[in-house]
Order: sequence, then C-alpha cells, then structure tokens
Amino acid sequence: MKGIILAGGNGTRLRPLTLVTSKQLLPVYDRPMIFYPLQTLVSAGIRNILIIVAPDRAGDYLRVLGSGKEFGVKFTYEIQERPEGLAQAFIIGETFIGQDSVTMILGDNLFFDEQGQIRTAVKSFTSGGQVFAKQVVDPQRYGVVEFNEQMVATAITEKPTAPRSSYAVTGLYIYDSQAVGFAKSLKPSARGELEITDLNNRYLERGQLEVQLFTGDWLDTGTFDALLQANVITAERARRRA
Ligand code: G1P
Repeated sequence: MKGIILAGGNGTRLRPLTLVTSKQLLPVYDRPMIFYPLQTLVSAGIRNILIIVAPDRAGDYLRVLGSGKEFGVKFTYEIQERPEGLAQAFIIGETFIGQDSVTMILGDNLFFDEQGQIRTAVKSFTSGGQVFAKQVVDPQRYGVVEFNEQMVATAITEKPTAPRSSYAVTGLYIYDSQAVGFAKSLKPSARGELEITDLNNRYLERGQLEVQLFTGDWLDTGTFDALLQANVITAERARRRA
C-alpha cells in the first residue's frame, strides 16, 4: 500500500494567512497541519508516501518534511501545476502508484482515529475503493453520500445545494490501481476540476465502492472557523494526554 498526501491548491479561502505559506503548513496547535494527515498514514503502516504540492510552495515542504527519514518513511514529491482537482493526484501519481493500491489523504484533513479504523481498513484492503463518511451539520460543503436502509451507499454528489443526507465523504480514499485509469477518464466539472466524487462514482457504478461510517472525529480545516476549531481541539487533546 502506497500513500499520497495532496497538499496543492492556493488556499484562497484562507488569505491572507496563505500569503505566508501553503495552507497545509499553517499551524494546528503545536505543529504544521500536514503532520496530522502524515501521522494518519504512518499509523496505518504506510511507508512510501508521495507528497503533491503547489509549485511556488515546494521549497517550504522540502524544508519542513525533508526526505522522510525523520518520520521513518520515504517521501517522493510531485508538483500540481494548477489546482485542477483531487482526482488529478492519481494522474500525477501514475508512475509512483504503478500496480499498487494507494491511500490518499488530503493535507488539510485531520482524523482522530482512536479505534484504529483507518489502519484496519488499510491493512485489510484488497481491491476496489473504500471511503469513510461522517455526519456533519454543513453537508453542502462536501461530497455527500446517500445510503439505503441497509446502509449501503447508493449515490455521491459533490457539494449539493440541497443535500439529500448529512453524511460527508471525508478526505481519505483507499483505491486499487484502477484509480489511475478512472482519473484519466474524468472530465473537468463546472469548477474546472477533476472531482474525487466522480472518481468515487466510477467505483460505485461498478459495485466496487465500500463506504464505512467513520467512528472517530474528523475535521476539514478549509475555513477560518474550522481551522480555529482544529487548533482548539488538538490543544485540548494534548492537554488531556499530558
Ligand atoms: C473535497 C472534496 C469533497 C470532500 C472534501 C473532504 O472538498 O471535493 O468531496 O468531501 O474534500 O474534505 P474541497 O476540499 O474541494 O472543498
């Protein structure tokens, strides 16, 4: 199993903070944001990790993260020239992925996985696609998944204006190597991006997507309030542990 951390984008929603550096390097309590998703991959036993960054921030990432030796892993770096969607990561990462399976995590997503659900999913993954859903109060900000009575996923819609459920698809995706071909077959959406939701739907259409409810806490830090909340929550957790 290989790993990808997607840390591209211009962080426009978090300006002026992101004039200083990339969103995913901003502080979340006592460390740069990307350390949290990195820890999630490392805890899942993933050692070979591709970090995808925006061109003008590549130097910052190299300085903060280095080769990976310090974390007991090996980093490879690639550039995403323009923010053209999460699914583009699998095109950029084609050579890195090869014939292997891959877990992609978004560099601005924090998973507090006390029960080791992600590690278990990564370890037991064989084929197809696997994602995690979490109930949220603002589903219109996310990919939204609908379930039938048996809690089997039936549809996923990206940022619907009238969400048909309150389950958001979180920013961690486990795929087999079909993801590369599926990503190449996607057309850009109205916002000009290769949508991860469309990639998930490729798996879903084939009956190959498993959607599990995430039992831990999950935060996407894409807005000022969410970033503040992430800082407060991680500080409280650190204090509880001390
Ligand atoms: C992206 C995805 C969305 C997913 C979310 C998780 O949203 O497009 O499907 O639910 O990440 O954080 P974006 O970062 O583009 O707002």
